[in-house]
Amino acid sequence: IAATAFQSALLDWYDIHARALPWRVPPGSARTPDPYRVWLSEIMLQQTVVQTVKSYFETFVSRWPTVHHLAAARDEDVLAAWAGLGYYARARNLIACARAVSGRGAFPGTEAELLELPGIGPYTAAAIASIAFGRPSVVVDGNIERVMARLFAIETPLPAAKTEMKARAADLTPRRRPGDHAQALMDLGATICRPKAAACLACPVRQFCAATGNAPERLPRKLSKA
Ligand code: ADE
Repeated sequence: IAATAFQSALLDWYDIHARALPWRVPPGSARTPDPYRVWLSEIMLQQTVVQTVKSYFETFVSRWPTVHHLAAARDEDVLAAWAGLGYYARARNLIACARAVSGRGAFPGTEAELLELPGIGPYTAAAIASIAFGRPSVVVDGNIERVMARLFAIETPLPAAKTEMKARAADLTPRRRPGDHAQALMDLGATICRPKAAACLACPVRQFCAATGNAPERLPRKLSKA
């Protein structure tokens, strides 16, 4: 794939079709979104679908507008507001992370420093560095794995295919607008390159895709459980 042509086609599509989500700024905006909002949304999205996260996110940022407000909150108030999102370990880490960040003054801007914070793993560190700090980090979630598997017709099953998927995603990541690029791939995976009903006719990057017209829904392959 010609990376620059791919990036342009994807970003042109995203400029028109980006989902309007409360933690985003409009595509191509001169400003990057608030790291606090990006972090909070990414933690909430780890095990909860976008539609459910929206209202929880709005509630949290209205009640605790900055990481300093959240850091100063009482544990039980945050845990009560989290109820319904599940996985209380996430809420406990959320509080611990807010306090660590507030204590150091602000969110760090590199993946390595973000990784040291409670509840922030490799995916979340890359997503925050890319979306909130404009760094060309390689962001790979389940949606992006599926898009890579199809674009490059990766026949190796998951989880062994993860290394190749990440390498392919790295080759496509631009230095300009990396956060929009990552979120465009997420939106593509959620709305077009769907698990069971791929809408290849509406896909802005089908000309680059090795799976279109070749039963894309069979990819990614998954190691069948014994
Ligand atoms: N899932 C995880 N992070 C996301 C984001 N920034 N936009 C849409 N879906 C997501």
